[in-house]
Amino acid sequence: KKGNYEHYMEKEIFEQPESLTTTMRGRLIRGGESKLKSVVLGGLKDHLRTMRRSRRIIFIGCGTSYNAALAARPIIEELSGVPVTMELASDLLDRQGPIYREDTAVFVSQSGETADTLQALEYANSHGALCVGITNTVGSAIARGTHCGVHINAGCEIGVASTKAYTSQIAVMTMLALALGDDSMSSRNRREEIVDGLFDLPNKVKEVLKLDKDMKELAKLLTEEQSLLIFGRGYNYATALEGALKVKEVALMHSEGILAGEMKHGPLALVDETLPIIVIATRDATFSKQQSVIQQLRARKGRLIVICTKGDAEAVCPYGVSRVIEVPRVEDCLQPVINIVPLQLLAYHLTVLRGYNVDQPRNLAKSVTTQ
Ligand code: UD1
Ligand code: F6R
Repeated sequence: KKGNYEHYMEKEIFEQPESLTTTMRGRLIRGGESKLKSVVLGGLKDHLRTMRRSRRIIFIGCGTSYNAALAARPIIEELSGVPVTMELASDLLDRQGPIYREDTAVFVSQSGETADTLQALEYANSHGALCVGITNTVGSAIARGTHCGVHINAGCEIGVASTKAYTSQIAVMTMLALALGDDSMSSRNRREEIVDGLFDLPNKVKEVLKLDKDMKELAKLLTEEQSLLIFGRGYNYATALEGALKVKEVALMHSEGILAGEMKHGPLALVDETLPIIVIATRDATFSKQQSVIQQLRARKGRLIVICTKGDAEAVCPYGVSRVIEVPRVEDCLQPVINIVPLQLLAYHLTVLRGYNVDQPRNLAKSVTTQ
C-alpha cells in the first residue's frame, strides 16, 4: 500500500494534492451566470443559521486537530463575526469550563475516537450547546455523537504523525467560514477569492512539494541539533505549533512553536549563534511585523531559516546570510496549508536521518482512546 514510498508519512505528505481534491469534491461551486462562487456543506446546511446566531464558536480538539482549528480561527471570525475560542479537550475537562446553550462547540478529530475530545463532546452536549463534528472517520464515535458535521474525506491516514488530515481539516474549516459568511454582501469579493484559492490549492501544494530535496538538505544540516524553534504569527501561528509538533513527535528533537508577538516576552533570551530558528514570514497583513522580528533576531546573531513567499528572499533577508525557503503564494487564510508542507518534509527527513521509526514514533499511538 505504500507504493513507491518508504514510509506512510512520506506517502501521506505527497498525497496531499489528491486528498485536498477529495476533501473539496462536490463542495465548491464555481459560480458563473448569476450564481455566486460558494460552498455547500451537506451536513451543515440546516444548522448554519443556528451557528451564525450563536454567542460564540468553541473549537475543541487535541494535538494536530487543535492546531488545524487554530489555523482556521482567523478566517472564521472574519467571515462569521462570531467570536471563536479555542480549547484543548483535556484542559476544558480539567477546568470544567463554562459552556452554554447559546454556544456552538466544534469537535475536530481525525480518528473521531480520541478519548478527551469525546468526553468533551459529552460535556458540551450535556450543557445544551450545538455540537458539530469535523472528522475523517465515517461512523466514528464523534461523528455519531455530534448533532451535525462535516467529514473531511482525506482518506485513511496510517502514519501516526498526522499530515494530510491536517491540511484537509484546514480546508474544511475554511469552507465552514465561507458557509457561515455567505449571507453577507460586504464580504462577497473576499469569499469569491477564497473559493478561487481553494480550487487552485491542490496545484499549489504540488508546487510546494518540489521543495523535498531542499528540505532534505536542510535536515542534513540540522540532524545533530538538540532543539529547533519555529516563530509564526497570525494565520501561521498554527503552522509554527504544528511544525514543532511534527519535529518533536517523529524526529524526537525538542522543538517549540512560538508566537512571534511573544518574542520579547521571554523567548528572545534563548537566541544565540547556535540555536536554529525557523521564521515563517510569508505575505499577509503581518508581513512587516515579521520583517522586524527577523531584524531583531539577526541583531542577536540568531541562526535563521526563513520561510517566505516566492520572490521575497531579498525582502526578508537583505544581506543573504540566512537560509531562505520560498513557497508559492496563496490567499492569506490558505497559506497555512502551503507553509506546513516544508515543515512536514523537514520532520520526515530529520527522522530518517536520525534513524528513528517514522510511522510508529516511540511511546505514541495513532488514536488515543484512553485518558
Ligand atoms: C454525503 C455523503 C456522501 C455523498 C454526499 C452526496 C456520507 C457519510 N456522506 O456527504 O457519501 O457523496 O452526501 O451529496 O454518507 N456528520 C456528523 N458529525 C460529523 C461528521 C458528519 O453529524 O462529525 C453528519 C452530517 O451532518 C451529515 C452526515 O454526517 O448529516 C454526512 O456528512 P458529510 O459526509 O460531511 O456530508 P456530505 O458532504 O453531504
Ligand atoms: C500528531 C497527532 C496527534 C493527534 C491527536 C488528536 O501528529 O497525530 O497530535 O492529532 O492525538 O487525534 P485525533 O485528530 O484523531 O482526535
